[in-house]
Amino acid sequence: MKQNLEEGVDIFSLQDQDRFEESSHDFVPKSFDDYLGQKELKDKLSLYTQAAKMRKEPLDHMLLSGPPGLGKTTLSQIMAQVMGVGIKICSGPMMERTGDLVAILSSLEPRDILFIDEIHRMPTQVEEVLYTAMEQFRIDVIIGQGAGAKSINLPLAPFTLIGATTKSGMISAPLHSRFGINERLDFYTDEELCEIVMQSADFLELAIDTDSALLIASSARGTPRIAKKMLRRVRDFAQVKNHNKATLELTKQALAFLGINEDGLTKMDLLLLKKIVELFNGGPVGLETLASLFGEDKDTIEAVYEPFLMRKGYLEKTARGRQIPHKRLPYLKQKFLGQMVI
Ligand SMILES: Nc1ncnc2c1ncn2[C@@H]1O[C@H](COP(=O)(O)OP(=O)(O)OP(=O)(O)O)[C@@H](O)[C@H]1O
Ligand SMILES: [Mg+2]
Repeated sequence: MKQNLEEGVDIFSLQDQDRFEESSHDFVPKSFDDYLGQKELKDKLSLYTQAAKMRKEPLDHMLLSGPPGLGKTTLSQIMAQVMGVGIKICSGPMMERTGDLVAILSSLEPRDILFIDEIHRMPTQVEEVLYTAMEQFRIDVIIGQGAGAKSINLPLAPFTLIGATTKSGMISAPLHSRFGINERLDFYTDEELCEIVMQSADFLELAIDTDSALLIASSARGTPRIAKKMLRRVRDFAQVKNHNKATLELTKQALAFLGINEDGLTKMDLLLLKKIVELFNGGPVGLETLASLFGEDKDTIEAVYEPFLMRKGYLEKTARGRQIPHKRLPYLKQKFLGQMVI
């Protein structure tokens, strides 16, 4: 990925500049009504939140899993808002020592939410502190060293842990079993993303027609973060070239500038397809082989590239590996190898 994306603009990763843009220059949903899509999940969470609020109890501990950029953090912030409680956000790999977690846990007010991103990457000894904290709202802390060391039992305010993960399979069984609510976020439909694009455009005071919004939506890999990022670049084009009005032509230009073709595919998608056509005559090819050819890890291929290529009908999973569907193969052979379509 690294070598090729240097040529284009990386639309997948979340860089510091994006975080800044996301939080300060773009629309951020503050209520369940503002949060578009994920209807079933939203209905459930809205009910749980209202019930806990009425009982004046903390929400049940919750595990939210799903690919990056679908809105796990945003949903958690909305739940805190609705409950009228505080939320502390931290990430699993950041907590290197048990003391880091203890400090955060003991600073929580009753019913506060502790949101731990990438919870599957928390060191084991830190994770173990969570077990009693989650179950009994207390922690055992060792004070001092050697023979004089003492274990004291520290009570905590009743709180809610929301763990977010892109890899729910990597959560240990003891941790997994302590979450009362376990939900998954799915990729958004093009129609849902179109609404999200319109909502953001409105906030950014950018005039955009439905066709342009749909083009962004269908290129955005089912992911609001990517849709919003694309829209911000379309807005740059519109601002400089067309008095802040996005047209279909201008949207196409902006997407091409980002290295995205008319079907929403990036250079990396095309490279992946090209390898399967060139080296395996369309497949099937094993995921491991693809990953090593591509210089990427299996997880990235599975989480970032495959879902979109499958959604667009360019790739399918079979028992023997990944392959290009028969009806697409002639077109791709012609595109990559210059072979005539018969
Ligand atoms: N349903 C939605 N409606 C409108 N905007 C959304 C929605 N979901 C996410 N967004 C926007 O998409 C961006 C990414 O959302 P968020 O940071 O919550 O994703 P995430 O799942 O926590 O990602 P990560 O796994 O990378 O932490 C934010 O700018 C957020 O405002
Ligand atoms: Mg997040």
